[in-house]
Amino acid sequence: MWRNRRRPADINVIGYGRDRSGRPVAVAASRHTLVTGLTGSGKGSIAGGWLKAQAPFIAKGLVQLDYIDLKGGMEAGMVNPKLIHHHAWSLSEAADLLHKLDNEVARRQDKYRGVVRMVTPDVEPRLLLMIDEAAELTIGIGKAKSEAAEATALLDSILRRGRSCGVVVVALTQDPRVQAMPLRPRFPQRLALRLNSEVEARMALGDAAVDNGATPWLIPADEPGTCWYADLDTGAAQCFRAPYVDDDTLRMLGAAADA
Ligand SMILES: Nc1ncnc2c1ncn2[C@@H]1O[C@H](COP(=O)(O)OP(=O)(O)O)[C@@H](O)[C@H]1O
Ligand SMILES: [Mg+2]
Repeated sequence: MWRNRRRPADINVIGYGRDRSGRPVAVAASRHTLVTGLTGSGKGSIAGGWLKAQAPFIAKGLVQLDYIDLKGGMEAGMVNPKLIHHHAWSLSEAADLLHKLDNEVARRQDKYRGVVRMVTPDVEPRLLLMIDEAAELTIGIGKAKSEAAEATALLDSILRRGRSCGVVVVALTQDPRVQAMPLRPRFPQRLALRLNSEVEARMALGDAAVDNGATPWLIPADEPGTCWYADLDTGAAQCFRAPYVDDDTLRMLGAAADA
């Protein structure tokens, strides 16, 4: 089978193909990741690629997917529902989901304190939390303000304590400002699709990546999926075009042929 010629899937790597100079783009599947890009810039391709890469492991029970999509589940609703452990399509559902996840983090901390330094998927499933339109979760408008504050505090707790407990948060947002994403410093790994300006790029990716050549404000509007990857620890920056993940693929994720 041709399929067998592919490199074996790695639970810890999200492969997005190759960058402009032909080097493979290997995003760490185990690190909190913030994805910023204007509406229509192709954030769905980043989320879709991530889920496609993790789907075989979700199907095997090594990764557990929670999904928050405050656009009423428009994007997340396309994903094979069998793969989603908990979902939230509204702010109050999101607070509920975050409470459950935070409790699980606390349980793991108690169980593994002094036992292992890092909970890896061979110990307990990785808990992957995908958040689309993350700014809507943390800002909240009008009456939703107190709910949003609660959600932000829970997410902060999950981000801070979750890393060693095997939790990975992938947050997607169109707004790079810190008001929209107050928890930005908690994300060591950043992806930026098309943005408005260099100022926004520095907010989204950090200064080092921009100083190293990242230019997401120069991505043409007719190239959705084109993306800069920045590792905040090394300052490394790579540009790539994420493959489009169509709705049928999302619906079929984790089905036998994929595993
Ligand atoms: N990687 C890609 N390659 C080609 N076209 C894409 C790609 N990603 C997205 N698109 C096109 O751009 C549109 C907007 O993408 P989407 O992911 O919904 O943007 P966002 O979530 O950032 O608003 C999609 O409907 C699709 O037509
Ligand atoms: Mg979107």
